Parts: sequence; structure tokens; C-alpha cells
Amino acid sequence: MLEFTAWKKPVKARVAVPGDKSLTHRGILFSALAEGEMILEHWLDAADTRASVRLVQALGVEVRELSPERLVLERPRRLQEAVTPIDAANSGTTMRLGAGLAAAVHGLTVLYGDASLSRRPMARVVEPLRAMGVQVLAREGGFAPLAIQGGRHQGGQFTLAVASAQVKSSLLLAGLTAEDPVRVIEPALSRDHTERLIAAMGGNITRDGLAVTVYPGSLHAMAFRVPGDPSSGAFWAAIAALDADRAVTVESMLFNPTRTGFYRVLAQMGASVHWDAVSELPEPWGHVEVRGRVCRPVVVEGADIPQMIDEVPLVALLATQCEGTTVIRGAEELRVKESDRIQVTGQILRSLGAQVEDRPDGWVIEGPTRLHGAEVDARGDHRMAMLAAVAATVAESPVRLRGEDAVRISYPDFFAQYHALQPEG
Ligand code: S3P
Repeated sequence: MLEFTAWKKPVKARVAVPGDKSLTHRGILFSALAEGEMILEHWLDAADTRASVRLVQALGVEVRELSPERLVLERPRRLQEAVTPIDAANSGTTMRLGAGLAAAVHGLTVLYGDASLSRRPMARVVEPLRAMGVQVLAREGGFAPLAIQGGRHQGGQFTLAVASAQVKSSLLLAGLTAEDPVRVIEPALSRDHTERLIAAMGGNITRDGLAVTVYPGSLHAMAFRVPGDPSSGAFWAAIAALDADRAVTVESMLFNPTRTGFYRVLAQMGASVHWDAVSELPEPWGHVEVRGRVCRPVVVEGADIPQMIDEVPLVALLATQCEGTTVIRGAEELRVKESDRIQVTGQILRSLGAQVEDRPDGWVIEGPTRLHGAEVDARGDHRMAMLAAVAATVAESPVRLRGEDAVRISYPDFFAQYHALQPEG
């Protein structure tokens, strides 16, 4: 258990965040379908991305270098059948994208996960993969473990019920090794890293509104530096936006607009957000400065939700400090993340004294309220642990957190950086 006390003095800081989790997973997984040496600099070395490394290694990809700065991967001429089941641990990205990749393997791939991952919906990838002719076994109801018999499969057109980049990416990966194209139509645009990376690696992929079509073909490996993760940067941005005497610059962060919805909402809520773009390649990135303090309630809904899905709980926290009613709706996907994030966020914020009403698809938050300390539980969810630590910076009494080790999933150094930034006194 960790204990956090309020940050009472002004903060002005620059923070470097680890490499983006989504891009790191994709770099690792796509190496299995690419000719040549894939080199990822500034990759995220965390429990989630290690699961993807395990998966490609089990398929015969050679990991040449695995240092904190560089990861070098090279696939064999032909992917091998994994001899043992592969542990995707807590990682939805490993399991869902891995299922699409396994469609390319001549043989059986068995993917299993921890208790949280085994409760998350997999029918959304299992059913379309089956429609392509891939044999997939899942636990009743469409849950992990998954057993995927790969080899030859067809393409097809798939209209997704939810805007999910993991599902879209799984089907596009399977499309690269199908006999004909795969077309995926989303209800709203989700993060588009898979499309960008396939194109950068020489794949044939086209977009037409919300529809993406990938044509079968091989990829060329490439080298790139992974920009900082905007979902990790969001915790520092939120700390800045909770107090008028705080300013934080998140350095070298991914600016892909399908990932920066949270920063746009911060500006709507009254924080000052300044973008300093540096480069567009292979994805846009730069430095972002956030200075406090949020003061206006907002309504967050619709197509904005997928562009900030992992950051939506932070909006609920910030809303507790704004005068008026904030409404967040259309975010029911949060119920099937690493935890039920609607329930866990509501519970954490209420135990700190906030007025938050849970709805099936979001929350209604009345502000402002002064937060106080309490004992809270991250319930095994990395983002819930970090949210509690952010809230503690403005709570009147100490916040005690159970389950803090969940940060190993996406941000192993989070608490070290937090304590280094916390002003003394
Ligand atoms: C991710 C997509 C999102 C996100 C997850 C990573 C990805 O999930 O919540 O942390 O890398 O594609 P969904 O696509 O299921 O919404």
C-alpha cells in the first residue's frame, strides 16, 4: 500500500514519458510479418508489451537486442508453431492483435491471459476471424483462452459494432495474410496507428471515410523512435490542470489526433494547452505544455470518446473541481477494460468525497467538491492506480492506495517520477 499527500507548493516541470504502448505493441507484433530487422527505439518496456515480445518469440521471431532504449526483432523465413500456450497476461492488445497474427501461422496458437483478460470480450475478434475461415476456439460466450488454427483464410468486409482499434487492427493483420482484401468499417474513428504503420512498412492500405481496406502482401521492417505515450502524459497533464499554480510540459509526446482527445477536452474545461509540434514522422509528435486550472464543466460523448478512451476517467476526476454538472456518456466500453472503469472510477472518486453518479455508459459529476483522503483500491488496473495518485495531489488528507503495483502494466516508473516531481513540504 502507498500513501500520498497533497502537493501544496507550485509545480513547474518538464516530464519525459515512456514510449507509446500502442505503437510499441504494433512495432513488436508487425515484425512477425515483416522482412528484415525491425528496430524500435524508446520502446515501452512494461508488462503489457513484454507479453507481445513473448508472443512473437514463441512464433520464432528472434529478439536480437532488448535494452531499455532499443529493441531489435527479426522474423524467421516462416513463422513457427508455438509449442506451448502463450501468456498474454493483462494485455488486451496482445491477445486481440495476436489472434489476427495467429491466422498467418500454419499450426495452432493458444493464447491465454490473467483473470481480468479472461473476462474481457473476445467474440468481437473471434467471430470475424471465423468468418474469414480461420478456426478459432474460445470459452463459451467468447472469452479467452483462444486457440487459433491458422493457415489459409479469406478476406471479407466487416462492420464493427464498437469503435475499437484492437478489433480493427486484429482484422487488418489477418487481412495481410488472407487470400483477398479485408475491409473494416468502424462506427467512429479509433486510433489509427495500425493503418499508418502498415503504410509506412510498405503495405497496401487505403481509407475511405470510416472504412479501411488492406490488401494481402508482405511488409518491410523499419526502424523508428517511439514517441512518448499521450495516455501516460495525461496523468501529468491532469496534475497540472488541478491547480492554478502548476505547469507541466510533457516532452516528445505522440500528437496523433486520434489519441489527443483528452488534451482538447482539457482546453474546453479552461486549462491552457500549448502544442509545440516537432515532427510528423512516422507519427506526429512534439512537446505539450498544460497549465491549470480547469474550471468549466463539459459534456463528453459520441465520436470524441474513442479518441480519449483511456483518459475518460481523468475527465471525471477533473470535473469534480469545476463548478456545475459534467456529463460523460457513450463510454460503455470502459466497463470492459482492465477493470470496469465506470464502477471503479466512481467508487474511488466517491470515497474521496466527490459527487459522482455512475450511469451505464458514463457518469454525471457535480462540482466543485473538496476532495479528502481515503483508502482506495486500484482493483488490478494500472490506470486506476495512477488516477488515485493524481487525485491525491489536491486531497485535504492522505490517500492510501492498494494495488499500486498494477502500474508495471504500462508505466513502471510512474511512482518514482511522481515522487521526484512532488514539491517538498
Ligand atoms: C488500444 C486500443 C484501446 C485502448 C487500449 C489500447 C490499442 O482499446 O483502450 O489501451 O493499442 O489498439 P480498444 O481498441 O478495445 O478500445
